[in-house]
Amino acid sequence: MMKADKGERLFALLKKQSSKPGTPPVLLAPMAGITDSAFRRLAIDRGCDFTFTEMVSANGLHYNNRKTEELISISGAETPCGVQLFGHDPAIVAETVARLFERLVTPAQVSVVDINMGCPAPKITSNGDGSALMRDPCLAGRIIEAAVKASPVPVSVKFRKGWDGDNVNAVEFARMAEESGASFITVHGRTRMQMYAGTADREIIARVVDAVSIPVVGNGDIFSGGSALDMFEKTGCAGIMIARGAQGDPFIFAEVKAALAGESYTPPTEAERLDAALSHISEYLSGHGTRAFADMRKHVAWYTKGMYGSTELRRRVNVCADADELIALVREFRAARLTEEE
Ligand SMILES: Cc1cc2nc3c(=O)[nH]c(=O)nc-3n(C[C@H](O)[C@H](O)[C@H](O)COP(=O)(O)O)c2cc1C
Repeated sequence: MMKADKGERLFALLKKQSSKPGTPPVLLAPMAGITDSAFRRLAIDRGCDFTFTEMVSANGLHYNNRKTEELISISGAETPCGVQLFGHDPAIVAETVARLFERLVTPAQVSVVDINMGCPAPKITSNGDGSALMRDPCLAGRIIEAAVKASPVPVSVKFRKGWDGDNVNAVEFARMAEESGASFITVHGRTRMQMYAGTADREIIARVVDAVSIPVVGNGDIFSGGSALDMFEKTGCAGIMIARGAQGDPFIFAEVKAALAGESYTPPTEAERLDAALSHISEYLSGHGTRAFADMRKHVAWYTKGMYGSTELRRRVNVCADADELIALVREFRAARLTEEE
């Protein structure tokens, strides 16, 4: 089968199996420190079509680093799911992909391996990883080819508009990724130097869509049903990917799916948002242990953003001593908000 067909087939399947059959795929973006198993499940339960692990170091897996392996913990409840790897050595990436499927996951759990060529963080780019690869398309191509050869499932690539305003090469990079065997690509419409500043460029994504025949996923600044529709209309992309818009708001997938289906959408009540926060905390702690409670502080802040009294809640959550206290604070806040809503 042609590699390009693999992406087409995957997208057709996602469309068919979607919570709103026939609507194009809406993917949860990989986010370091955020898109663990618990979060991915919350997204899938609310209409997301595909999730990714956070970026995982190919080197870390190569050297059997236990903490790195833990990042790939996948339960049956969050499929379909992809694993995202970062690395700059084609041989290590290939060996890691092969070992991933020998030791850690099955193709039933992981239906895509994504290669990160977009991360802008200096600690990543200074090693030649992430978006640094946009400056070395030949090496990037060898990495993709090696991963494709080693992988039993389709390989995708996620990258940015370019390195900086003077080096916007997403179109050429996309063609290279397609020629190297990528089944689909995701483009974030910002350069590496922009980090997260400014607005994501829809036009560059449209140009990429015109340049390749594999599916293109549009990414950047999707925070509502309206901005999701805008991404599809302005770019002609085959799917969209949401990152920051899902922080504290896994309901965004239901909102976007309703917009794509042309249906009306009723936003969650505060009680429903707080229930999602509580089930997120509980799933997170059962996966990572109660000592990891502090990781949930940022999520609580996101879930409660804009709610009356949330500043005080945040202050207390930031100094709470353990998981029990954290849960009690959120429950207490929920009870107070319910009384207010009545
Ligand atoms: C906290 C955080 C962590 C991220 N971690 C990753 C990552 O592990 N891999 C990756 O490819 N992109 C990562 N990104 C980038 C997002 O996947 C996405 O490309 C970017 O945030 C733009 O989408 P948005 O406008 O919907 O947020 C991260 C972004 C954020 C905010």
